[in-house]
Amino acid sequence: MAKRFDGKVIVVTGGSDGIGLASAQAFAQEGGTVYICARRKERLDEVLDELGSSVTAVQCDVGNPEDLDRLYAQIRQDQGRVDVVFANAGVSESAALGEIDEAHVDRLLSTNIKGVIHTVQKALPLMGRGATVIITGSGAGSSGFAGLSVYSATKAALRSFARTWTTDLKDRGIRVNAVSPGMIKTPAMDRYLDNNPGTEAFFEQLIPMARLGHWRLHGGLRPLGHAIAVLRAGSKGQKRLHLLAVSATGSTSADESAITLNQRGAKRWGRFA
Ligand SMILES: NC(=O)c1ccc[n+]([C@@H]2O[C@H](COP(=O)([O-])OP(=O)(O)OC[C@H]3O[C@@H](n4cnc5c(N)ncnc54)[C@H](OP(=O)(O)O)[C@@H]3O)[C@@H](O)[C@H]2O)c1
Repeated sequence: MAKRFDGKVIVVTGGSDGIGLASAQAFAQEGGTVYICARRKERLDEVLDELGSSVTAVQCDVGNPEDLDRLYAQIRQDQGRVDVVFANAGVSESAALGEIDEAHVDRLLSTNIKGVIHTVQKALPLMGRGATVIITGSGAGSSGFAGLSVYSATKAALRSFARTWTTDLKDRGIRVNAVSPGMIKTPAMDRYLDNNPGTEAFFEQLIPMARLGHWRLHGGLRPLGHAIAVLRAGSKGQKRLHLLAVSATGSTSADESAITLNQRGAKRWGRFA
């Protein structure tokens, strides 16, 4: 039976852990030829076993444009094109106003802003009509959690990129979506909760299901609501979706209903395309 991403070439940045890894697996299971990238080579090697032969891992820091040149040079040589770019790599760390130093700002801007710009821009020569860009946003981009001002600002910027790039790319027939995951207990989230005791209970109060999402269940990857949303955003059938938001519910089923609710909003954005 034909699969949704048969014959498609997909790039997932930050594909060695958390949301990126779950999404890379979902793309591969749907027939895609997937390139994942991340900075730690040993972690990339580790996950390749789990992902199977249709996935290639390339060590790459998205904050370093030369690394991205290497990534796309390899894809150009292997495949000659890119159909889906999932610009997902992101770092989150907290610092309250008064404690923000230059290194904190540089780390967040390098990966979350500069990294996403170059991940998408450097892919463009390989992208044709019908290709898709998906950016990982965050509910933090439109809320005010303590200590997360710089991270939240980077995520607000990404939603802005999605709107503007939709306009920049519409004549080339390339769609742009921003997908904002709910709170999911990935390695990044675990680190954040460890460094901010008491936060998990606070987050749970904000979530209708009263629990954070899990990306691994019984040792295996779990088909996250987020990965499902990413797949939808990347699918050919979703021509009219230009901004897709998944609310911070934290559970797969609630994420899915959030997608359904937000498709109405997405249609509104579609009118600008
Ligand atoms: N988890 C949540 O609840 C949540 C909620 C809202 C939004 N998000 C967003 O979702 C995305 C993924 O988060 P996650 O929770 O899955 O994080 P995660 O578990 O820490 O995974 C992050 C992935 O990105 C890679 N990465 C980080 N910096 C990179 C860089 N400069 N260049 C290339 N790869 C890089 C990491 O590998 P290396 O360290 O080896 O590079 C890893 O593969 C992020 O954009 C995050 O802001 C997450």
